[in-house]
Amino acid sequence: MTQRIEMQICLGSSCFSRGNKDVVMYIRDYLKKNHLEDKVIFKGARCMGHCSNGPNLRINEEIIEGINLSRIESILENGLAGIK
Ligand code: FES
Repeated sequence: MTQRIEMQICLGSSCFSRGNKDVVMYIRDYLKKNHLEDKVIFKGARCMGHCSNGPNLRINEEIIEGINLSRIESILENGLAGIK
């Protein structure tokens, strides 16, 4: 059975004001380009309680803080390495 990864981005107001929207667009695009849309469940999440370090992304159980457009590619490469 193919392994699936669950990835959630915080859609709370603090992460929103820190620019999570651009990262959401980047991730959607990345999943599409890499044909990972059926291997990765990508959803929005409520506040993860780490607001001052956002925007935050959870990959399976791990919360990665302070994501932005310059870091997101390497975060995805590492986080999704097992299924690519
Ligand atoms: S708003 Fe994103 S962690 Fe609180």
